[in-house]
Amino acid sequence: MGFSFLPPEWVDEIGSTSDELKKRLAAAGLTPGTVLAARRQTRGRGRMGNGWLSSGEGDATFSFYWEGAAEAATAGTISMACALGVRDFLAGYGVECRCKWPNDVMTERGKICGILAEGGARGEGRFGLVVGIGVNVRRVAGRDELLGRRTAVLEDFSSGPHDVGELLEKLLADLERRIGAWESGGFAAVARDLENCLWGRGKTVTARTAGGGKTTGTVRGLGALGELILDGENGERTMVSSVSALEGWDG
Ligand code: BTN
Repeated sequence: MGFSFLPPEWVDEIGSTSDELKKRLAAAGLTPGTVLAARRQTRGRGRMGNGWLSSGEGDATFSFYWEGAAEAATAGTISMACALGVRDFLAGYGVECRCKWPNDVMTERGKICGILAEGGARGEGRFGLVVGIGVNVRRVAGRDELLGRRTAVLEDFSSGPHDVGELLEKLLADLERRIGAWESGGFAAVARDLENCLWGRGKTVTARTAGGGKTTGTVRGLGALGELILDGENGERTMVSSVSALEGWDG
């Protein structure tokens, strides 16, 4: 039997679905597959301490809990399997996406989905992750200006209105398939598909680390632990395992 989600719990408004699940996890534990979805988030969070701005009028914002036998080094790659699941889901609406390492989902018009995976060891070789996913469905006035970059929304490609409940149901089914594959075959089970849609593949990009360092190179593919492989001008290879930003190619 593959991975499956519990029926999602919906709330009208919350600070952050990820913060709420982390709170519940700390207080009483969570059943793997728990899903919390919000119609509006007032304090949505993104990677690297950034905020996450959603429309509150139809964007998909939700978090789920995954737990299983895994090491910290490999568990994080589930979020990459999730990016692929989001890509599958959007393909169903005619939206062509690339997965930008580690787990952004990009269209030719900009980022359409962000994923935030936060977790820790649960003891006895188990690892737990709260994975928060935000998919832009409707255009929010001022979002691009505030973020200083282009964002894409589902309605750019597929005219609405889209019912967020239906969207979530479909998206969860695609996530289940990719997470199920990851659980049975590890990162290798999703690596090829990810490489085939990897943002910037064959292009020169710069990976910036939180500490201020940067590495520039041509995107070659993914390592066995999900690292981004960059080849420098002189042939030196870097396996990048964490970035604050990946930039330099606008495709
Ligand atoms: C990113 O691209 O920086 C990650 C964005 C993750 C946003 C989602 S929306 C649902 C969940 N709750 C949050 O506060 N953040 C995640």
